[in-house]
Amino acid sequence: MSDYVPFAEPTLDEAEIDAVTRVLRSGWVSTGVEADSFEKEFANYVGTRHAVALNSCTAALHLALLALGIGPGDEVIVPTITFTATAAAVVHAGATPVLADVEPVHLTLDPEQVEKLIGKRTKAVVPVHFTGRMASPGPLRELCDQHGIALLEDAAHTLPASDGPYRAGQVGDVSAFSFFATKPITTAEGGMLCTDDSRIAEEARVWSLHGLSRGAVNRYRPGARAAYDVDRPGFKYNMSDVQAALGRVQLAKADRLHAARTTIAETYLRELDGLPNLRLPAPDTADNLSSWYLFPVQLRLENMQADRDAFRDELHELGVGTSVHFVPLHHFSWYAENVVRDGQRFPVADAAAGRLLSLPIFPAMDDGAVERVVTAVRKAHEGTRS
Ligand SMILES: Cc1ncc(COP(=O)(O)O)c(C=O)c1O
Repeated sequence: MSDYVPFAEPTLDEAEIDAVTRVLRSGWVSTGVEADSFEKEFANYVGTRHAVALNSCTAALHLALLALGIGPGDEVIVPTITFTATAAAVVHAGATPVLADVEPVHLTLDPEQVEKLIGKRTKAVVPVHFTGRMASPGPLRELCDQHGIALLEDAAHTLPASDGPYRAGQVGDVSAFSFFATKPITTAEGGMLCTDDSRIAEEARVWSLHGLSRGAVNRYRPGARAAYDVDRPGFKYNMSDVQAALGRVQLAKADRLHAARTTIAETYLRELDGLPNLRLPAPDTADNLSSWYLFPVQLRLENMQADRDAFRDELHELGVGTSVHFVPLHHFSWYAENVVRDGQRFPVADAAAGRLLSLPIFPAMDDGAVERVVTAVRKAHEGTRS
């Protein structure tokens, strides 16, 4: 199946291979000068004063919550349409996630629902820029300021994205990015915590490396003092220089990778327009730009002979890989049993849940691959119309 279009693939070439090889030959592969440079370059790109390189976005979310002082007895509001890591990080911090429904246009956290859920124990709100579209930054920032609670952006899907004056990563008191293999830029696995607050950055840095007062590179340097203090039982969340070298090359290409994703999204929006049983995502506007990490379509199942999984199988048979983002958290057993409140309902998320399907959208897709996806979707759509 050489013509098979996979759901996602990283865009890596000789520059990444050279950068990684250079670090492998350098004599230092753990956290060091590459991670330090990556942090500075990333902070500059996102527009925050600090960036802390970590081994995942999950780690960034966890440490952001700890640095904000959130723990047992506290509540944190998260959207039900997200990956489990968003809410699991709240549990890791010892706090209680509170699920909120999403708004119907972009399926991002609904500020009206958030307002209803804010109570005395609420300490933070975690909007997810689902698929790369910013989650109501203005209203959520205002709401958090009014109530004196923290805003933590789950920016796993964005690099870059903006909504009016807001840019992903700059709106929250702290934000968390992912460099997982399929993300807008990758370090194979990795994440970044961004903030303007020096105290949050410093706290996250100490938590990320066992609670040590001095990182390894500063202990092993010729002539450096080996002594360190441990002021807490920290975690092992630091990013290696091998990953950081990869990340630096990817970051330098971020705008080009974003432009390629945007072009594919525009092609899908144009070529798939008018298919009656397919609801396409909202397009960019002059001042609202998605990272186009994902291209989610919704199937109008009431008019179709197939369900979402049958439609996916059909696309697979036609040579196109797809995925589902996301099964709402309240549909999973652990969240249903431990997090959903009595009588709580999520009508918007429930209406979208069985219909969502993500099409391939990654920068390495050439015109032929995009065309094959368009043709396959049209054909599957035709075959499943009732
Ligand atoms: C919305 C969201 N948040 C957090 C994460 C976790 O990212 P990571 O795999 O880097 O920990 C993901 C991963 O896919 C995600 O989609």
